[in-house]
Amino acid sequence: ATFSSIKRMADDPNLTCIPPSYVFQIEQAVVHLDDVEGGEETIPIIDYSLLTSGTREQRIKIIQDLRYACQEWGFFMVINHGVNEGLMKRMLKSCKEFFHLTEEEKMEFQDKHVLDPIRYGTSFNASVDDIFFWRDYLKVKVHPEFHSPDKPTGFRQVLEEYAKAVRVIVRGLLGGISESLDLDSDCIGRALDIESSLQILTANLYPPCPQPGLAMGFPPHSDHGLLTMLIHNGISGLQIQHRGKWVSVDGLPNAFLVNTGDHMEILSNGKYKSVLHRATVNNKATRISIATSNGPSPEAVVSPVHDLLENGCSPAGYIGMKYKDYLELQQSNKLDGKSCLDRVKV
Ligand code: SIN
Ligand code: FE2
Repeated sequence: ATFSSIKRMADDPNLTCIPPSYVFQIEQAVVHLDDVEGGEETIPIIDYSLLTSGTREQRIKIIQDLRYACQEWGFFMVINHGVNEGLMKRMLKSCKEFFHLTEEEKMEFQDKHVLDPIRYGTSFNASVDDIFFWRDYLKVKVHPEFHSPDKPTGFRQVLEEYAKAVRVIVRGLLGGISESLDLDSDCIGRALDIESSLQILTANLYPPCPQPGLAMGFPPHSDHGLLTMLIHNGISGLQIQHRGKWVSVDGLPNAFLVNTGDHMEILSNGKYKSVLHRATVNNKATRISIATSNGPSPEAVVSPVHDLLENGCSPAGYIGMKYKDYLELQQSNKLDGKSCLDRVKV
């Protein structure tokens, strides 16, 4: 059986082992980027300020960096992004406060349909998961229509401000990524009706786990959408797959951790692959992460950008699907690597 919240289970001081339904075999081979000698294997760092106000040369360089990051990693860190540090901290604090509401207060958002605007739950999809994940979550649609729970106090204001600030950086990054594909800077934005971009904020809570080697916080998956912007409370747990190995990434304080999603892979016709990632748990501290997915308009039918096919004379590798339908498909099934993306591959 599943528990209504992993927090409630983990709050029990007598909990010394995890229920069998949470046992997940984690492969042990993890590379810690900080341990790697030689400096070749470092996560790409994108200085956002150079994209918006750098010299011509600096801009050319940063677009090259974006191309390398998207092609070789599907993952990068964004610094000098201009989002107020205090706002990022307040967003993390507000999410923590949400999880600390009583189970009764949070229940209003439980057992919702995957397309409902506010959803609270545990694991990934507790009604279909056969192994449960050591995670509680809150998912809120914040754009094109803004939604928010009313509690805790102040949550709505912080959420609105934070979501807007993230959209600004995403627009800038998408412009740079468009150029990195030798397209006009507004090409991706126009193709996907970015003014109506579907933006969903997911707060994840991973309480301490008495047997962290047996449980999983979030199973290996790729994200729907174009770019996911992640921040966390300084506790390690995120791992990405890079050249066949799991690599732990923490990022610099106040940086955004960014990964390319399935719809970036589709629109770039496979040039920029969405990256597999997962979240592990630990037995010491609660980890909170906030992943904000930024996608096309929910109504946009996403297929490879026409200009990319013409320039390279390459056939489309993906069939078009409405973003909203893709989202529903991915969210109502078990999360399993890139299995949802495989369905739209030619
Ligand atoms: C996610 O993939 O959305 C969560 C990753 C994390 O918690 O770091
Ligand atoms: Fe993810």
